[in-house]
Amino acid sequence: MALVNIASPQDIQRMRVVGKMAAETLMLVGEKLVAGMSTEDIDRLVREDTLRRGAKCAPLHYHGFPKSVCTSINDVVCHGIPAPDAILKDGDIVNVDVTTLYDGYHGDTSATFYVGKPSEGARRVTEVSRKCLDLGIAEVRDGARLGDIGAAIQEYAEANGCSVVRKFVGHGIGKKFHDEPKVSHIGKRGTGVRLRAGMIFTIEPMINLGDYEVDILDDDWTAVTHDGSLSAQFEHTILVTRDGCELLTKRDGPLANSEGLSLLG
Ligand code: MF3
Ligand code: CO
Ligand code: CO
Repeated sequence: MALVNIASPQDIQRMRVVGKMAAETLMLVGEKLVAGMSTEDIDRLVREDTLRRGAKCAPLHYHGFPKSVCTSINDVVCHGIPAPDAILKDGDIVNVDVTTLYDGYHGDTSATFYVGKPSEGARRVTEVSRKCLDLGIAEVRDGARLGDIGAAIQEYAEANGCSVVRKFVGHGIGKKFHDEPKVSHIGKRGTGVRLRAGMIFTIEPMINLGDYEVDILDDDWTAVTHDGSLSAQFEHTILVTRDGCELLTKRDGPLANSEGLSLLG
């Protein structure tokens, strides 16, 4: 079994700083998001805000990724590449996945945003994925197992007529962008790595309205649903504590163009 790092107090303090940066950049994206803008515009916004903080965008050149942030529209599951001709239009959903690198540490967080008024299906898959992340987080505490997180997510997604992507998982994070453990978003309770206070990892369920199968496009990055159905995702970077967890990418207010919109007609 692969070893999972236990963060030192100094590691934790630095992860709080970078996690807050990533959260603030993601909130800024929500505030600026509007139909007619391109995902290239989002890329520029994220890059400029990150550099202004004296930080770097971890995705840029990571295993050859060509841009500063991942932008995944509608049936794109993850790793969408920003482009000037990818224009957001009314009714789209778009996941923006920000990973900030500062002082040697990574903070990773994403959200799905509504562009204008969502269809019933877009709202359902987005709200199910938001709830899946919350339910996964609620399982986290010293002594719990990774399988508890996957089970909570899988049970809720499937009970609500959605599916959980298997091909991509959450991950340990810190000095490395992607580290052990692998955090599956499906699972069985009471199985898998036992969580210990000081572990830091992401939970980032990708939820599809249809089947969980994905295809990778010829750019070798963009993952799309095989059946063309909508997909949504939310992600936090999480520290395991004695009696629960600390969200290192917690936001200090609601996300514009995402939270609360589910209640509108
Ligand atoms: N941010 C993604 C994650 O949550 C990883 C993106 S890898 C990239 O793990 F190269 F596409 F940026
Ligand atoms: Co991640
Ligand atoms: Co991410």
